Amino acid sequence: MCGIIGILGADPAAPRLVQALKLLEYRGYDSAGVATLENGAISRRRAAGKLVNLERELAEAPLAGISGIGHTRWATHGAPTTANAHPHATDKVAIVHNGIIENFRALREELIRAGHRFTSETDSEVIAHLITDYLDKGQKPEQAAISAVRRLEGAFGIAVLFAGDEDILVGARKGSPLAVGLGDGEMFLGSDAIAVSPFTQRVMFLEEGDIAVLSRAKVKVLDASGQLAERQVHIFAGGAAAAEKGNHRHFMQKEIYEQPETTGRTITRYVNAYEERVEMPNLDGVDLNSDSAIIIGCGTAHYAGRVAEYWLEQVSGIAVETDIASEFRYRKPAVGKKSFGVFVSQSGETADTLAALRYCKENGLKTLAVVNVPESTIWREADARLPTLAGPEIGVASTKAFTAQLSALAALSIAVGRARGTLSSQEEGRLVHALMETPRLITDALACEPEIEVIAQELAQARDVLYLGRGVHYPIALEGALKLKEISYIHAEGYAAGELKHGPIALIDEHTPVVVVAPHDALFEKTLSNMQEVNARGGKLIVITDGAGAVACADIAKHIIMVPTCDPFIAPLVYSVPIQLLAYLTAVHKGTDVDQPRNLAKSVTVE
Ligand code: F6R
Repeated sequence: MCGIIGILGADPAAPRLVQALKLLEYRGYDSAGVATLENGAISRRRAAGKLVNLERELAEAPLAGISGIGHTRWATHGAPTTANAHPHATDKVAIVHNGIIENFRALREELIRAGHRFTSETDSEVIAHLITDYLDKGQKPEQAAISAVRRLEGAFGIAVLFAGDEDILVGARKGSPLAVGLGDGEMFLGSDAIAVSPFTQRVMFLEEGDIAVLSRAKVKVLDASGQLAERQVHIFAGGAAAAEKGNHRHFMQKEIYEQPETTGRTITRYVNAYEERVEMPNLDGVDLNSDSAIIIGCGTAHYAGRVAEYWLEQVSGIAVETDIASEFRYRKPAVGKKSFGVFVSQSGETADTLAALRYCKENGLKTLAVVNVPESTIWREADARLPTLAGPEIGVASTKAFTAQLSALAALSIAVGRARGTLSSQEEGRLVHALMETPRLITDALACEPEIEVIAQELAQARDVLYLGRGVHYPIALEGALKLKEISYIHAEGYAAGELKHGPIALIDEHTPVVVVAPHDALFEKTLSNMQEVNARGGKLIVITDGAGAVACADIAKHIIMVPTCDPFIAPLVYSVPIQLLAYLTAVHKGTDVDQPRNLAKSVTVE
């Protein structure tokens, strides 16, 4: 995950920027950079690779100045080169950015027509040029930054430094977290509280849509509607360790809220947003132009694979078999010659998944790992890998790793469709475009937490809960049930909605809440009939749907959780958010140990 630090200080900025970046190393990165104001002018040092390379640059050519910004970048748009490293700058501003700018192509073309010259392949660079454009038109720094931020679409966290003005730093948050550190005559910005922890214990977290204008003496926060806003100041007395959860109560909550960033990072690793094409890394002999694929995982990772089964079949026409690793490894399955195996795992150490991978290798299948932990055993033993860029997942119940798995698998499905010639470049462009919208739509879906809070209070009283979904949302229903039982200890089962009449309907009574994952898509009417069956038997319907779906089931649903309308292709990613929040908030009401639920381990390295 990229990291941001900004400093309006009293001491030389460059060593402090590097000190903060070191604390952000845990998020993972592949290049880094800093910019300071030297006598009012922007000076930068950037380097590909680890921070030692940046430190070497700074030792050879030190940076003076007491105001500056710094960044650790995990490459998304463009390779991890020095030219693509942040800060991006013109002679008037320098910026650092986390997230995705969805409309960067249109902005870049507009700015090029206006005479701006770009020097990187990143989406981020448009921010520097856009702000410069408003400065050129006579706007003051604060206004120029606000004008530019208002034109950005996507999910982002940004810090902006202005040439010629030592006492202003602007931060903006939409989807990617940003914290303000309040010092003694100094002010700081950080992508989390850890970044500012060496300099101050007093931290304020920006909310969605906030723009913060910092000077050494004060911080002004404008909310999404441009009104002045107050944000609470938290005290982190225990340094970096205490600051790790930020303003979140649990790691699970923090990780749910990181998803605009973690999905954005994973998606942009596999797409060329400018050309709206998928770009896979070298897959070492894994032939995507295959007839069939096997997808293996356990628990949540298995459900990610089940979603991918629908995607691959719909997008590429390939025959897909998915299985739970513990079953697959012992049933001695025949593995087709013109096939490849996909092994999905957060930890990369799950014993059953590893055994399944070894079985496939022994039987001559090429293997592809979709793994979150670099250099883990599954990562190393697979023929090729698609890293998920969720960063370390601390909560035992998987959340951001799941949506990162979906992100990588969605890109893989498009790549297979292209390799097999089942997808036109126009259709590929549409799917890539939809994928790029995911972080923003997840940000919007997170806004439903207050509605879910009310429902969770009620759900916490339930003994059994049913989850229903159809098509690609059937595995999301399974994942919803798994999440709820894992952390709240409430018995929950996921079913394909069409299976209701074949048994589970016997469980329906006025005490059984039924959570239905039902976007208004091609299968909605079918799911609506199932909802009517539940309603007719007194079941309490909790429907997760969009605007059109909400209208259609308004008279039968007890509760509706509204998520943004989205392209059906990416809906599983967006609908994952409410099912995670529902489980999380229910567990909080029950007072269970959310981050370390009983009997569960984060990494299951034994059978
Ligand atoms: C559920 C959960 C587990 C894991 C499963 C596989 O929240 O976390 O079901 O998904 O144990 O683990 P990995 O992905 O590490 O192979």
